[in-house]
Amino acid sequence: MSITILAIESSCDETAAAVIHDGNILSNVIASQKEHEQYGGVVPELASRQHVKHIVPVVDEALKNARVEKKELSAVAFTAGPGLIGSLMVGSSFAKAMALALDIPLITVHHMQAHIHAHFISERKPQFPFLCLTVSGGHTQIVLVKGFLQMEIVGETLDDAAGEAFDKTAKMLKLPYPGGPLIDKYAQSGNANAFQFPEPNIPGLDFSFSGLKTAILYFLRENLQRNPAFIEERLNDICASVQQRIVTILLHKLEKAAKQFQIKEIALAGGVSANSMLRKEAQRLADEHNLNLFIPPLEYCTDNAAMIASVAYQKFLVKDFATLGAAPVARMSWAENDPR
Ligand code: KG4
Ligand code: ZN
Repeated sequence: MSITILAIESSCDETAAAVIHDGNILSNVIASQKEHEQYGGVVPELASRQHVKHIVPVVDEALKNARVEKKELSAVAFTAGPGLIGSLMVGSSFAKAMALALDIPLITVHHMQAHIHAHFISERKPQFPFLCLTVSGGHTQIVLVKGFLQMEIVGETLDDAAGEAFDKTAKMLKLPYPGGPLIDKYAQSGNANAFQFPEPNIPGLDFSFSGLKTAILYFLRENLQRNPAFIEERLNDICASVQQRIVTILLHKLEKAAKQFQIKEIALAGGVSANSMLRKEAQRLADEHNLNLFIPPLEYCTDNAAMIASVAYQKFLVKDFATLGAAPVARMSWAENDPR
């Protein structure tokens, strides 16, 4: 029997749908929201309204691109969390209605587990067990991946996510949201050693970015008092220096994890893995310690539904179905040590 699943992602500011057939992605459609640019971050109410607007055309396009009829679907999957509740509600209500109407199983997917699945839909796949540094706008984790659905969180941020550190820095520099890609761009022509920012002393494999955020705030305040044009004059150097610090914080912990677990396969996932310095430095780390590095193509790094579909396919194989009563942000045991 062949398996065809429609997967829906709506946890933040991307409305996405994908179709997977026997483990192969047939379509992957994304509608991104530009409405948040001027606000320096995602505005939840605006995001929910945009999801309502986009969900029907995005699902229709995903089915059309895959040349799949609704009646051919074996299951419908959706991101159940973590994410913005209003945004999640749109995807979950839509998926439930469809599963009910078509009388097919419903599958809930954990967004962070899905980010790791970007590796299983990419051509170059890591071998189990591997360590995945998942860095996005909302999360920063190091996960020990033992199987498609067997994962253990071995380190995570105690406060802000790495993407948030990029985005909040950008906001302080008066750059639009999301600021990560812009910091990356300006940093290309800056001197990464121009300014020194602190590396937090956090035990184990956990991260913290809130101290860095405060340090940047004070640094800018002080310099702007002396020179009101400081940001404009030194934008490239500020971006390069901040980026270097965020990247070193991330990679020091990944290096530590690889040593601790004696693992040779390391991987990046999530939107921040688009960062050019992170990619370059992760490769340098891999070469230095003889590790294999895996970075999925960009389209699978940022939020998308193909990664949701990949988790859903594995869950279908083990008949891990949800009931129609499954709430968004439902308790989902996605990692051995995370009952969320
Ligand atoms: O995974 P993602 O698309 O959405 C979440 O689940 O959060 O990640 C979005 C994050 C944003 O914080 C954005 O600024 C950051 O990824 N990002 C980058 C780059 N491209 C995206 N950060 C640094 N450098 C980049 N090139
Ligand atoms: Zn994400």
